[in-house]
Amino acid sequence: MARIIFENTGDEYELPDGSEIMHVCQKEGVPFACTEGICGTCIVEVKEGKENLSSFNQREIDFFGDEGKERLACQCKIKHGIVKIKY
Ligand code: FES
Repeated sequence: MARIIFENTGDEYELPDGSEIMHVCQKEGVPFACTEGICGTCIVEVKEGKENLSSFNQREIDFFGDEGKERLACQCKIKHGIVKIKY
């Protein structure tokens, strides 16, 4: 199991390894619009454990230009371990 922690609220969720993070982010109040990696509405900042998220996909690379601490919550998955997110 993987764990995602939201810095804003301190809420924690356990997810099976390889899960999309979109649904728990929605539960936390992260806004979404296109859910296709185009609009940028769902940007979150990864505070810890960025290595535990899936690699940037082409839509994220197209959006951000390079790989930093921000991710599109509609596009990435948690591979394993712990990830702390701020939105
Ligand atoms: S909701 Fe549009 S990029 Fe994620």
